Amino acid sequence: MALDPSRLRAEFPILSRRIGDRPLVYLDTAATSQKPRAVIDAMTRYYEQMNANVHRGAYRLSEEATAMYEGVREKVARFLGAPGPEGVVFVRNTTEAINLVAHAWGRKFLKAGDEVLLTEMEHHSNLVPWHLLAKERGVVLRHIPITDDGRLDLSRLDALLGSRTKLVSLVHVSNVLGTVNPVEDVVRAAHRVGALCLVDGAQAVPHRPVDLAAIGCDFYAFSAHKMYGPTGIGVLWARPEILAGMDPFMVGGETILEVRLDRSTFREAPYRFEPGTPAVAEAAGLGAAIDWLTALGLDAVEAHETALVDHAWRRLAEVPGIRMYGPSSGPRAGAVCFTTDPIHPHDLATCLDQDGLAVRAGHHCAQPLMTRLGTVATARASFGVYTLPSEIDLLVDSILRTREFFGCR
Ligand code: ALA
Repeated sequence: MALDPSRLRAEFPILSRRIGDRPLVYLDTAATSQKPRAVIDAMTRYYEQMNANVHRGAYRLSEEATAMYEGVREKVARFLGAPGPEGVVFVRNTTEAINLVAHAWGRKFLKAGDEVLLTEMEHHSNLVPWHLLAKERGVVLRHIPITDDGRLDLSRLDALLGSRTKLVSLVHVSNVLGTVNPVEDVVRAAHRVGALCLVDGAQAVPHRPVDLAAIGCDFYAFSAHKMYGPTGIGVLWARPEILAGMDPFMVGGETILEVRLDRSTFREAPYRFEPGTPAVAEAAGLGAAIDWLTALGLDAVEAHETALVDHAWRRLAEVPGIRMYGPSSGPRAGAVCFTTDPIHPHDLATCLDQDGLAVRAGHHCAQPLMTRLGTVATARASFGVYTLPSEIDLLVDSILRTREFFGCR
């Protein structure tokens, strides 16, 4: 069934806020999504009814909290189409998930001369952890280039892959361009040369159905806060047999089997990767977000947002001096990225804010991509289930007013 964003909006308390005398027009969902009442209530209910530490108490509250926390692990596995909960590691966010792989897998298995293949459209979170490994271990980094219209140039893939390639790590949906990458094809090519494949799903999971069985990757990472859940919790999914061979990254309580004064032994995965008291209330929120999104239907979410992106491309094309970045057609999700010369994106965002519109401006944590696009910054409008086509029309009106204010025609 098609989404009814006007009805859904009533479920998001923040969307009735005003910015000065204007209604909030929130077009920065790629940075973080707003939260429906179901998620906020699940976290409040947890604190009011169940709050206790998990895996530690032989009393009712702790048992309930533990059952809820482990239940969310199972829910995540079902949501991703993973065979079971053993591969689901709770982390803080996508960034931490990728760092975990770089430290706990990369430091153990990569040596000088081994290659990690990335792409030109990665978020810094999928570049910087590998930079550290390259510096420390002599690991060689290669990059799949992008075409001028912001897609991966897969004609270069076979030449970039070889017997030295140990990992291919790429973004599922670009946080800047909204490009949906054919990750299944990249995974198959990586596996052909014996490499593993990590997919950064932060901008995919909120916008379209994700099925790990179909994608076939070895690691998949996402954050709850971009999919209508809370900040402070995310997921690294990894094939259980790969997790089992990885050494712990951060250690402490919960990760261990036995500790002596001079040595320790570690629990099985995923627990050996979850040190200290975890984000239990946030897990309750993540579980509620999964239930809520699943009830909406990810196919319906994808259809709604594809229509929004198409509408945005059409309407923004009417703005004089506009330059759009990314694919002008084809699979795109959630975001449109543009500049409107000669106005700097930061000035534009500040002027849009006067009209109650929230957009992101800058390099979007993707400086190498900005360089490839021939700019240092862009503006980005990004969408969610609650976004209305009329809000995109307000964006266009506000950009036109800003151009007038700057004396541009
Ligand atoms: N990665 C987030 C963004 O693209 C913060 O805005």
